[in-house]
Amino acid sequence: MPLETTTPPTPKSTTVCVTGASGFIGSWIVMRLLERGYIVRATVRDPGNMKKVKPLLELARADTNLTLWKADLSIEGSYDEAVQGCEGVFHMATPMDFEPVNPESEVIKPTIDGMLSIMRSCAKAKTVKKVIFTNSAGTVNAEEHLKPAYDETNWSDLEFIYSKKMTGWVMYFVSKILAEKAAMEATKESNINFISIIPPLVVGPFFMPTFPPSLLTALSPITGDEAHYSIIKQGQFVHVDDLCEAHIFLFEHPKAEGRYICSSHDATIYDIANLIREKWPAYSIPTEFEGIDKNIPVVSFSSKKLEGMGFSFKYTLEEMFRGAIDSCREKGLLPFSTQTHSNGENKESTLDSQKKHTTIDNSVTKEKQMEAGENGKCE
Ligand SMILES: NC(=O)c1ccc[n+]([C@@H]2O[C@H](COP(=O)([O-])OP(=O)(O)OC[C@H]3O[C@@H](n4cnc5c(N)ncnc54)[C@H](OP(=O)(O)O)[C@@H]3O)[C@@H](O)[C@H]2O)c1
Repeated sequence: MPLETTTPPTPKSTTVCVTGASGFIGSWIVMRLLERGYIVRATVRDPGNMKKVKPLLELARADTNLTLWKADLSIEGSYDEAVQGCEGVFHMATPMDFEPVNPESEVIKPTIDGMLSIMRSCAKAKTVKKVIFTNSAGTVNAEEHLKPAYDETNWSDLEFIYSKKMTGWVMYFVSKILAEKAAMEATKESNINFISIIPPLVVGPFFMPTFPPSLLTALSPITGDEAHYSIIKQGQFVHVDDLCEAHIFLFEHPKAEGRYICSSHDATIYDIANLIREKWPAYSIPTEFEGIDKNIPVVSFSSKKLEGMGFSFKYTLEEMFRGAIDSCREKGLLPFSTQTHSNGENKESTLDSQKKHTTIDNSVTKEKQMEAGENGKCE
């Protein structure tokens, strides 16, 4: 996997906090920050969960520059100590349980209250200059009729979202929108610069031990998980490394402010299927997707604002998928082939073992449907 860093190291005295540090994106940004010489405070809910935190502790410079902090979005003041003395906070933690018993208390409340609690912790610390919030494409294009193109001036239609059944994933979009708006309001009366980064589907390599939820969607043409197809029907994509570099770029850029879409590629499900079929011929990839026109247009997400600041995306769509597939294969999460074998073993049996590792969270599927703008699928 391409792990080169071109940006010069930041002075070692810069201390930053990363929330949700054991997640797919969180763990990657911790790695990049450590490489640059940052002192990183990584928050997780359970620092004693070695399965989750070991990959962080094994990172280069972790022994000198990384500390783990226990913090939970549901607990007021939980982030006080972790952010005290930090110059920046990368806020990535978010409840990803989309089939909660009580969506209000398990999704919306922790997301919004947690965001505000972190902002209060930052204000109390008096050292925090910037908070970078990893937001969701669901805050931009969740509306009844999709436009051909979106930028960060677009906001999802809350009325449309509220008109849908209030399942956990719908609450997720509401909570992300309201959390961003609440944080923007809160920072009006402080000196903290609040920046919101809006990624679409994030794809690429990973070192967390489990299957990142977004890869269940991205790799669905391989796994044959039809529930995810509509999500990438008219999708947008960004490499996890480009996304993390963009976070650090905006943290370091003195003029960064407001919202930034961070999306490098628009592609339909047919583009993705063709790419995988061509580059990984051992996988049996559908040539048709039921109910999806072969000539369906792309829906574009513009990163012009981010690129206008001087940021460049490094990765191609192929590199995103190569990184993701290689990581999954290395960890035994994806078979090397799904073609019918000469001994008669069929595709399903090959995938059976894989499914044991990749418990599909159906609710994440629904969440991603909204992220990809497949709003007609709302229930
Ligand atoms: N991946 C994508 O395609 C994508 C697209 C758009 C936006 N995003 C955003 O990117 C961020 C990271 O996503 P991801 O893909 O890296 O997800 P992930 O792998 O599931 O990571 C999310 C992390 O949030 C933490 N968390 C959950 N509930 C929490 C709570 N109540 N208090 C404190 N921490 C909590 C978990 O940490 P613990 O280990 O402590 O449980 C988990 O590691 C999220 O804000 C998500 O909305 C992701």
